[in-house]
Amino acid sequence: MLKSRRTILRASAGLLIAGPMFGNRQALAQTPACDDSPTPRQIEGPFYTPQTPRRSKLVDGLQGETLVLEGRVLSTTCQPLANAIVDLWSCDAAGEYDNSGFKLRGHQLTDAKGRFRFETLMPGSYGNSSFRRTPHLHVKVQGPSTPLLTTQLYFPNEPLNARDSFYSPALLVKFSQTKPLLKVATFDFVLPVQAKG
Ligand SMILES: [Fe+2]
Repeated sequence: MLKSRRTILRASAGLLIAGPMFGNRQALAQTPACDDSPTPRQIEGPFYTPQTPRRSKLVDGLQGETLVLEGRVLSTTCQPLANAIVDLWSCDAAGEYDNSGFKLRGHQLTDAKGRFRFETLMPGSYGNSSFRRTPHLHVKVQGPSTPLLTTQLYFPNEPLNARDSFYSPALLVKFSQTKPLLKVATFDFVLPVQAKG
């Protein structure tokens, strides 16, 4: 089985720590400060609404399991991209999209360190018995001088991941907190630009 770049980088980091035992620490290159592969693109899907409000709280009083999504937008040289637009949308816990308003939709601009933070709800799954989408978030990301990235994010340990043909392990968020009714997830987007965007 092919190893992912992330796995290889982790293995390299392990070698770096183990290096002095074998006297080869100087020979090993340093690992980069981020996974520098551009984030893979995925389809937009049929439920995108343009001109979303600029805000970080998307829940609009909806009840459900809160999901905080935070992370950074980076270049392929791991430089933070300030003023990048991050536009997020998802369905609710029942798998329904708000296609007439802006519930669970919104965008924000990254700060000077390339950071963003959304407060939304854990999305449910939707579809039918022959094809059911695993829980996911939709997102569009664009730096001031980068191409537009449209993609989707997925969650670890979801039973439907293995049956969803769009699912990609390269687009998995990482949970830093999973309390009842509150999950905190992180994901860093890498855009195909070397300099600051
Ligand atoms: Fe979707």
